[in-house]
Amino acid sequence: GHGPAEEKQLITGLWGKVNVAECGGEALARLLIVYPWTQRFFSSFGNLSSPTAIVGNPKVREHGKKVLTSFGDAVKNLDNIKATYAKLSELHCDRLHVDPENFRLLGDILIIILAAHFGKEFTPACQATWQKLVGVVAHALGHQYH
Ligand code: HEM
Repeated sequence: GHGPAEEKQLITGLWGKVNVAECGGEALARLLIVYPWTQRFFSSFGNLSSPTAIVGNPKVREHGKKVLTSFGDAVKNLDNIKATYAKLSELHCDRLHVDPENFRLLGDILIIILAAHFGKEFTPACQATWQKLVGVVAHALGHQYH
């Protein structure tokens, strides 16, 4: 196992190298392609009719960047993630009615993107801490559901 100091280093060390715009756009595009039912939340985004259309859709890119930027708030507030997402949890629950299972799916997609971008640098120990983090974020975003 790893101590909290090592875990924080594995999170913040990698995060510092993440291209948020690129990886965020890629993450949301993959979510919409791999789990097509998630498209229903984004009907205002225009053409989502094929993988090529989704990957090339500027609204998908822009929103993906917004989502991954928001994920960065977890990295900056590792000891206070639940409070960090209290408002966003309310939004996704009460206003958007997003099934919280989808937060887990997006977390797993993010792990795949990190693995693709960082290759060997994304070691098993690194994955283990990131896996924990995406789980905590998903839990925090689902917290306001009732
Ligand atoms: C909006 C974050 C996952 C659906 C947003 C916004 C943020 C955000 C910051 C903008 C809020 C605002 O405008 O005030 C996140 C984070 C996620 C996540 C951090 C997980 C790590 C998801 C998932 C879905 C989803 C999995 C659906 C499958 C939406 C929708 C909007 C939204 C539909 C409104 C989009 C619009 O029309 O502008 N989210 N989100 N989110 N989110 Fe999420």
